[in-house]
Amino acid sequence: MAQAPLESPRLPSIDELDVDNRRVFVRVDFNVPQESDGTIRDDTRIRAALPTIRALQARGARLILASHLGRPKGKPNPKYSIVPVGARLAELLECEVRVPDEVVGDGVTKLCLDNRAGQIVLLENLRYHPGEESNDPAFAQALANLCDAYVNDAFGASHRAHASIVGLPELVRDRAAGMLLAAEVAALGRVVAAAEHPFVAIVGGAKISDKLPVLLAVLDRLRDGDSLVIGGAMANTFLAARGAELGASLLEGDRFSECRSVTAKAEARGIRLLLPVDLRIGEGLDARAAEVVLADDVHLPPKAMALDIGPSTEALFASVLRGAALVFWNGPMGLFENPVFAHGTLAVARAVAASPGYTVVGGGDSVAAIQESGVADQISHISTGGGASLEMIEGKVLPGVAVLLRG
Ligand code: 3PG
Repeated sequence: MAQAPLESPRLPSIDELDVDNRRVFVRVDFNVPQESDGTIRDDTRIRAALPTIRALQARGARLILASHLGRPKGKPNPKYSIVPVGARLAELLECEVRVPDEVVGDGVTKLCLDNRAGQIVLLENLRYHPGEESNDPAFAQALANLCDAYVNDAFGASHRAHASIVGLPELVRDRAAGMLLAAEVAALGRVVAAAEHPFVAIVGGAKISDKLPVLLAVLDRLRDGDSLVIGGAMANTFLAARGAELGASLLEGDRFSECRSVTAKAEARGIRLLLPVDLRIGEGLDARAAEVVLADDVHLPPKAMALDIGPSTEALFASVLRGAALVFWNGPMGLFENPVFAHGTLAVARAVAASPGYTVVGGGDSVAAIQESGVADQISHISTGGGASLEMIEGKVLPGVAVLLRG
């Protein structure tokens, strides 16, 4: 994948697209979390696409929306049907949303041709068709035959070189970025460009092996006086690399050399690398009580696990955020799904919200902590993308963005 230039060229906007009475295919990311009976647990991604849908509807577009949902692996599976998503969308838009029972085929073609200005067809789960993930040219052509213009508003899926993200727009001359995609690229682009300092990057989560490319990319962009804050089980590996004995804590013993090299790079360039100074520990992931211990030279008993940052660490992380001009946060500070160990993540959510800087938050648990703390309206940008936002931060141009930038 190509590396992003510092100044990204402008994405084509839907404002410049002729949509009146035309069949406009909008790729959305309606990959929402669901209960086992299909009930939607969080409709944020559906709501996030509403501005683009409403704007196109108001301008007389004959809308064809399409998304993947889960990973049905190229064949129909009722568990992953888009129907409950269509029902939620209809409620939010207060209009009818028609869902054909297949992705492409004669019935779908007819429905899209019959679709009038302002009306909406939502295709069945794109991943019911094997051609979606393989970016099959014949499947991309079948989708292209349904429409006159193409809009990508699926930021969360734009790191996937799939048919609806790359193959289809290559075949449609009139194409643009939706409002959500444009907003995400602009906000994350500000982090990638690291134009404001002090820049505080907070990276959490379980595994350093998953986040190492992001850590290294962020480290490259930080400068003297900026801070790299590390929490979550990832921090355990850093602490263990310095000699801490962490009992049964989750850590990656084969990643000590990477931790030492990140630490050395930060030191050499005057970047503050902040690790937990105290920890909340418990016996097992279901522990009902937490004990606070200092992180320096810690020797935990064999069954004890470090499951969250401690109160002094919360205060330390909050203090650097108070002076930040630019903040990027991805990943929980502890075992967020156990309320006893959600404290640190919730504290960081509040501290990010209170920061005077431009704040960007991405990733499931971090965003959930922001919502749970009731501070979403104090965050400059909450990303709808998990993998997509991390790949952007790594400095990659997402395939779904690259295709729209091509003339
Ligand atoms: C996501 O949830 O991150 C996007 O919808 C992409 O889904 P995927 O990881 O199944 O491609």
